[in-house]
Amino acid sequence: IQLKKITIAIDGFSSTGKSTVAKQLAKHLGYIYVDTGAMYRAVTLFAMQQGFIDKDHFNVDKLIAALDNITISFKFNETAGFAEVYLNGVNIEKEIRTLEVSQFVSQVAAVSEVRSQLVKQQQQMGKDKGVVMDGRDIGTVVFPDAELKLFMIASADKRAQRRFDELINRGDKVSFEEVLKNVEDRDYVDSHREDSPLRKADDAIEIDNSDLDLESQFKKVLELVNTKFSN
Ligand code: DC
Repeated sequence: IQLKKITIAIDGFSSTGKSTVAKQLAKHLGYIYVDTGAMYRAVTLFAMQQGFIDKDHFNVDKLIAALDNITISFKFNETAGFAEVYLNGVNIEKEIRTLEVSQFVSQVAAVSEVRSQLVKQQQQMGKDKGVVMDGRDIGTVVFPDAELKLFMIASADKRAQRRFDELINRGDKVSFEEVLKNVEDRDYVDSHREDSPLRKADDAIEIDNSDLDLESQFKKVLELVNTKFSN
């Protein structure tokens, strides 16, 4: 039987495990997974490569003028089991996860011109439903009519610890304190910017995974998904 296709929006603070749930769900349902954070990170990497942003300055006008030269695409990687992100044809999945990109991305994501261009692409990618999309404004701006909206939260300490472990496992040299500071700084900027600030949509279901292991979390989410198919 062909089940109806729905749109699943997953929003929340940084490092709350949105992408982990989104990937699990997409795999289980045979849906497309779109990591919108990767798109903002790709634009940020581009701005860094072009010298438009560093720790002392951010030339917003130059970035806006260059937006048409940025092509972001996703290509499924069989081994990884999910779609990796490409910037102008180059795989940048690994480069965009550095602490350096994380330190600039919230400033780039606050630029309205950047947002409107990426939101348009995201809406295009999800137009046929059958999509799990994670980010900060999916349930509020990109797909306000999504059938299922999740809002993920966890304590800042737990989130920083997860992100720290990830970076250390990759071989990056970072301290726990700077990772925690980045998580807290991004939360602040992402939820206080003027354009599409991070907030829970009124009809989103909040999931606090501070003390949930992956298996129990997925079980809980799956129950929510199944209620959407049962009527
Ligand atoms: O999910 P992430 O940590 O990879 O996202 C990186 C940054 O991109 C995040 O700090 C804010 C921004 N972002 C956004 O503003 N809107 C989205 N839909 C997704 C991410």
